[in-house]
Amino acid sequence: MRKNNEVVFTPQQEENHEMVGNFRHFKDSIWWPVVKSLPRSTAVLLFPVMLIIGAFAYTRTLDTHRMFSGASSSKSAQSTTPYGTSPFTVSIRKPIAPLNCTAYNLTGTCPTNLQDHQNSPATATCPDYFRWIHEDLRPWARTGITQDMVERAKQTANFRLIILKGRAYLETYSRPYQTRDVFSIWGILQLLRRYPGKIPDLELMFDCEDWPVVLADRYNGPNVEQPPPLFRYCGNDATLDIVFPDWSFWGWAEINIKPWHILLGELKEGTTRIPWLNREPYAYWKGNPAVAETRQDLIKCNVSENQDWNARLFAQDWFRESQEGFNKSDLPSQCTYRYKVYIEGSAWSVSQKYILSCDSTTLLVKPKYYDFFTRGLIPVHHYWPIKDDDKCRSIKFAVDWGNNHKQRAHQIGKVASDFIQEEVKMDYVYDYMFHLLNSYAKLFRYKPSKSANATELCVESMVCEAEGSVKKFMMESLVKVPANTDPCTMPAPFDPPTLYATLQRKESSIQQVESWEKSYWDIKP
Ligand SMILES: *[C@@H]1O[C@H](CO)[C@@H](O)[C@H](O)[C@H]1NC(C)=O
Ligand SMILES: *[C@@H]1O[C@H](CO)[C@@H](O)[C@H](O)[C@H]1NC(C)=O
Ligand SMILES: *[C@@H]1O[C@H](CO)[C@@H](O)[C@H](O)[C@H]1NC(C)=O
Ligand SMILES: *[C@@H]1O[C@H](CO)[C@@H](O)[C@H](O)[C@H]1NC(C)=O
Ligand SMILES: *[C@@H]1O[C@H](CO)[C@@H](O)[C@H](O)[C@H]1NC(C)=O
Repeated sequence: MRKNNEVVFTPQQEENHEMVGNFRHFKDSIWWPVVKSLPRSTAVLLFPVMLIIGAFAYTRTLDTHRMFSGASSSKSAQSTTPYGTSPFTVSIRKPIAPLNCTAYNLTGTCPTNLQDHQNSPATATCPDYFRWIHEDLRPWARTGITQDMVERAKQTANFRLIILKGRAYLETYSRPYQTRDVFSIWGILQLLRRYPGKIPDLELMFDCEDWPVVLADRYNGPNVEQPPPLFRYCGNDATLDIVFPDWSFWGWAEINIKPWHILLGELKEGTTRIPWLNREPYAYWKGNPAVAETRQDLIKCNVSENQDWNARLFAQDWFRESQEGFNKSDLPSQCTYRYKVYIEGSAWSVSQKYILSCDSTTLLVKPKYYDFFTRGLIPVHHYWPIKDDDKCRSIKFAVDWGNNHKQRAHQIGKVASDFIQEEVKMDYVYDYMFHLLNSYAKLFRYKPSKSANATELCVESMVCEAEGSVKKFMMESLVKVPANTDPCTMPAPFDPPTLYATLQRKESSIQQVESWEKSYWDIKP
């Protein structure tokens, strides 16, 4: 049995949180005077006000959203490849010239092999969570983005990335932990290869640390400056950071987590090994409790001689596992419990997509952060909500409920793994990046140019010097052929009432569970 061998949280990500905690606090203090968190309930109460404000911003941005739908070309061409399948439009899909590190080492310059090419029109509308792109960029919808705003985002950025005519330039300010920046930049280069000629000129500042820093309150009110547009991996209700897919989609070399397109296939197979009914009927979690108080609080729910809250919780022995080459970290073999707990560490955790894809029912401890896809998750549909301030009783009830409603509980697990498999597959990760960067670039009020210290970047400049699993994962996630269709069609922005209704619905599902939970405990002696 390998049921305890689960990788949920990674030591490096988490030790890093502890190590940089103080430093980061200092960084945070730049914004500190205006810190004020905005709980969800407050957000709902404030909504009528936002409705009015939002209505203006909304009408101002309507026009810019139309561009994505009709971008495809109707020109047809002689098929020179086996890829053209549409009877009406045949696309030319020349493979990109293969990597040649000998040539790169000789000249030290990036090859010029990226070219425009024809695509078939997109067939699909993007998943619903793409609508949040409009919301994330709304702070600049009226004003546009100026050079001054971008420069102000430099304060905490690890790097500036510039795209000009489909070529990428990089200016590094500081290195984050491990290879987060490397694989994030690698991911953007793959996007350029996937959609050559379709990414407009732009520049962006990227902060690879965990916590969002652009506090909304600071930019609220008359005569305040506009917020800096800063890209990072997660956000929360009090901040305006722009969320972008994290590095793990191209691989996490330090802990041997493979590129997402490979892992996703393995996970799909892994979930079929033990049917839901035959899995352990408990809530399982394994990770590093030290990184967050809320996790230490969770550990108190562990089974012992004196109590059983239906929770089986394990601390990860990262030192031993790293020594053993993470050979116990095979994610697809970890779907052995009916219920899996997701709990944030110091911020969002990349493990959420692995937990959700297990076909187990995810018990999701009320989160504070979101990443680019998690705003698409609906309580009771994709996961079961767990109270943050009463975890043990909440878990006990959830597992009892699930074991008494097996079909419904399994259904929640299944809907979540289907969502991850179908709506968070790599094609859509790239399309999300595509639409986010296109919408972002539309807002530019100046023409970006190559800054003095920026150097050109290409896959050769990254991979030729790389070694070990970094190189391996890069080669595995390399885009070798441009996409043969356009990106999916961007859904329209939420109109304010719909957005309000969506948030309301989520809130009331959670309240529904809380009221069931309350009656359960009221009846229990
Ligand atoms: C290119 O240069 C890098 C670093 O200088 C080296 O590691 C690599 O082996 C070279 N590759 C080839 C094909 O010469
Ligand atoms: C790589 O580049 C070198 C030097 O330009 C050339 O001699 C070699 O044929 C190229 N290899 C491939 C596989 O294209
Ligand atoms: C939780 O309890 C189990 C069973 O007693 C034990 O193996 C495990 O180490 C405990 N977890 C923690 C984090 O103490
Ligand atoms: C993992 O590696 C360790 C040490 O190399 C070995 O003892 C152990 O049997 C391996 N475990 C698995 C599941 O392969
Ligand atoms: C470029 O880098 C050098 C050395 O790191 C630094 O002194 C200089 O200020 C930088 N120039 C710009 C325009 O950022």
